[in-house]
Parts: sequence; C-alpha cells; structure tokens
Amino acid sequence: MRLTVIGTGYLGAVHAACMADLGHDVLGVDTDTRKIEALAAGRAPFYEPGLAELLTRNTRSGRLRFTTSLQEAADFADLHFVCVGTPQRPDSLAADLSHVEAVVDGLAPLLTRDSLVVGKSTVPVGTTRSLSRRLAARLRPGVTAEIAWNPEFLREGYAVQDTLRPDRLVVGATSAHADGLLRTVYEPMLRSGVAYVGTDPATAELVKVAANSFLATKISFINAMAEVCDASGADVVTLADALGHDVRIGRRFLSAGLGFGGGCLPKDIRAFLARAEELEVGEAVSFLRQIDRINERQRRRTVDLARHLLGGTFAGRRVAVLGATFKPDSDDVRDSPALAVAAQIVAADADVRVHDPEGLDNARAALPGPAYCPDVVEACRDADLVLHLTEWRQYRALDPAHLSEVVRAPRLLDARNALDPAAWRAAGWQVRALGRPA
Ligand code: UGA
Repeated sequence: MRLTVIGTGYLGAVHAACMADLGHDVLGVDTDTRKIEALAAGRAPFYEPGLAELLTRNTRSGRLRFTTSLQEAADFADLHFVCVGTPQRPDSLAADLSHVEAVVDGLAPLLTRDSLVVGKSTVPVGTTRSLSRRLAARLRPGVTAEIAWNPEFLREGYAVQDTLRPDRLVVGATSAHADGLLRTVYEPMLRSGVAYVGTDPATAELVKVAANSFLATKISFINAMAEVCDASGADVVTLADALGHDVRIGRRFLSAGLGFGGGCLPKDIRAFLARAEELEVGEAVSFLRQIDRINERQRRRTVDLARHLLGGTFAGRRVAVLGATFKPDSDDVRDSPALAVAAQIVAADADVRVHDPEGLDNARAALPGPAYCPDVVEACRDADLVLHLTEWRQYRALDPAHLSEVVRAPRLLDARNALDPAAWRAAGWQVRALGRPA
C-alpha cells in the first residue's frame, strides 16, 4: 500500500521506517528540513536501537522516501498517518493540539481523492470528533475524507520492536471501510498473531491515555511505599518483588526510585486531568494529581538525602551524577528526573560532573552549568558523593573497588535501586537508596 507519515519525530520516524519494512511504499513528511535530510540519508536524528538499520535498508530499496511538501504527500497517497507532537501547553496542564490541527488544516484542501487520515499522536478523548468537523469544513467540494484514531504504545529504546510486535493494535474508526484499510496495513502483524482491538475513536483515544495513567499510577504507588519503607525500616525492593509474584499485580513498572519522566507519562496524566475537568468528571480522576505530586516528590527526596549524606550542604562539594536521560537506552532528556536533580544540586553550589552514555549533547543543551564527562571514571574523580540517577546497564558493571580509589569519599546514593548495595558496601562504600534500609 501507499501511505504517508506526517511528522517524523520520535513516533513518526519509527512508524515510517517500520511501515516500509512491512512492505508498504512510505513517504515521510516534516517541516524540519534538517530532520528530513538526515532521515533521507538513512540517519536516525535521535538514539534508538535498530532504527538506523531499518532506515538504511528501506531508503536504499526506495520503499521509504522523505519530503517537506504536504502537496507531495496529498498527491502520493490516500492514507495519511498523523504523528506530530502534542506537548503540554505552556500556560496550563492541557495538551497543545496546534500541530495536529495544523496538519489537518494544511492537508484537507490539498486532497483530490477520497482519503483516510489516521491519527497516532496521543490526544485528549474527543479529539477525533472535533478534528473530523475541522477536516470536513476544509475539503474541496466532492472530496470525502474520514479520520480514524490508532494510538501508539511504543517505548523509547524499544520503539522498533514495540511497533513491529506490539502487545495490541487499537483502531478507533467510524466506518467499516476505515477499519478494513487499517487491517490491510497491519496484515503481516495480524497474521503473526498480534491482537486487534477495533472500536470507536473515543475509546481508542482513551485507551492510550488510560494505559499511560495506569503505568504512572503503578510507579507512584511503589514510590509512595518507598517513603513508608524509609519511615519504618522496611525494604521496598523486597516488597515489590513479593507484590510482583501476584500475577494480578505483576513486577513490571514497580521499580521504586526517582520516578517517571520523559515526553509522555508526565504530560499525559496532566492533559488527562485537564480534559476530565472539561468533561466535568475531574473528581473521578483527581487521584492523578496525587500521582504527579508523589512523582515530583521523589526528586526532592533524592536531593534532600544527597544533602544529608554530604553533612547538610552542597556548597563546595563535588558530586558525580551518573545518568542524565529520563531512562536508559534513550538520549531523551525531556522532563528527565536525573537532570532535574542535577539542576537543583548545581543551584545549591555543588561542583557537579555528569556522565551519560548517550544523552550528553542533549543534557548540555538543556542544562548548562555542570561539567559533562564522556568517561564515567573521570566523572567520579575526587567526588564526595556519587549519585546514580539513570539505571544504564553499564553502571551495573562498574567496579566499586576501583571507583573507591578514584573518589574523595566512597559515598553512593542509588536513586534507581539498580546497583547491588552488598557489593558496593563490601568494597568500602557508604550506600543509601530510596526505600531501603541504610
Ligand atoms: C511510555 C509508555 O511506557 C509507552 O507505552 C508509551 O507509548 C509512551 O510512554 C508514549 O506515550 O509515547 P516511555 O516514555 O518511552 O514510554 O518510557 P517508559 O519505559 O514507560 O518509562 C517512563 C518513565 O518511568 C521513565 O522515566 C522510567 O525511568 C520510569 N519508570 C519506569 C520507573 O520509575 N519505574 C518503573 O518501574 C518503570
């Protein structure tokens, strides 16, 4: 099939590459010329394992091309995926839908044949309905077009596998024709057994927002338990392991620590709160406000514990920060808990040295102030405290005995509960973590 993918950010670039890999003829569209040039040359504009291979293979075969022209997109296909961002509005908790609306406004008058527009971006429930009215008002006479919603559940770091082998496909369509077209697009995946949930657009929009809210709730629940553990001497890691054995609960997304960040979970629960208020059901989801607060509190708790370990002040102390991205296997620092902690410690006059395997360039652009070290041992040199803030695999492979000779004082705060405290203590380190006994 021929299709376009409009918006080639994180979601769109991965979707375009994966759809081409399924065998479709794909045209990726973006207003950012630099991004389009990189993608057309087979280069991923961000760090994502496996994406570069897919881009190279499919741009070489000619199945995947890129353009900045919406006119070319309208001429190329009758099926258009919309993958532009829906960030938090600067003035409120709500999602900013201006990019999605701009795509509909720009595309509608260019369509000359009956078309299907498929939204993949995360949007407030009810968006398909209002966008459909917007689209209809801008079509040429005699042309019909429909909007369906097909949310995406990919995780950064696993984006390619999540797109090609998702847990489920969710499609909200108002006609059997649209549903049928999308079943054809995803046919190779359906043949390999991927579950398909066909529903109405409102339910499809809500599945995405509810899934991210549930994941955020799981994380804040275990972080609340970590606070209780700190007050009572219990151990949150053993607690999570024991809870996780119950298959109704499950161990995944139950790792206590610095909490969630990134471009999705925080803004999605806030946008959900805002939309629920508009729908006059704010009270029903008001617990999400608490989920957000618990999450923000973990950053403060980490800073407070770090200050305590340094004897009550950061001034003049050297602090090594391990990890700057919002999670491992990503170079993304959007709403990164690690960087938020680093910023507070910089502001408190510590001499901060940050290491991250992939996120240094983005971190440097987002937070000037700390020294950024490409070498983890150099980041730890003469440190009074090592702060483990993003659980990259390579940090678990560090040799605590060797590092103890490099630092000024062997003190570790593991804010991700991912390092082995017994091994570090055996090498002479004072180790603290969130929700674990000292
Ligand atoms: C999240 C969802 O997991 C995806 O399903 C969804 O498609 C995506 O948002 C989106 O809406 O686009 P992502 O933001 O890539 O994916 O990251 P996650 O792997 O979900 O991690 C989110 C945050 O939670 C990270 O900061 C991570 O460190 C934190 N986390 C995760 C915890 O603190 N504890 C855990 O047990 C798990």
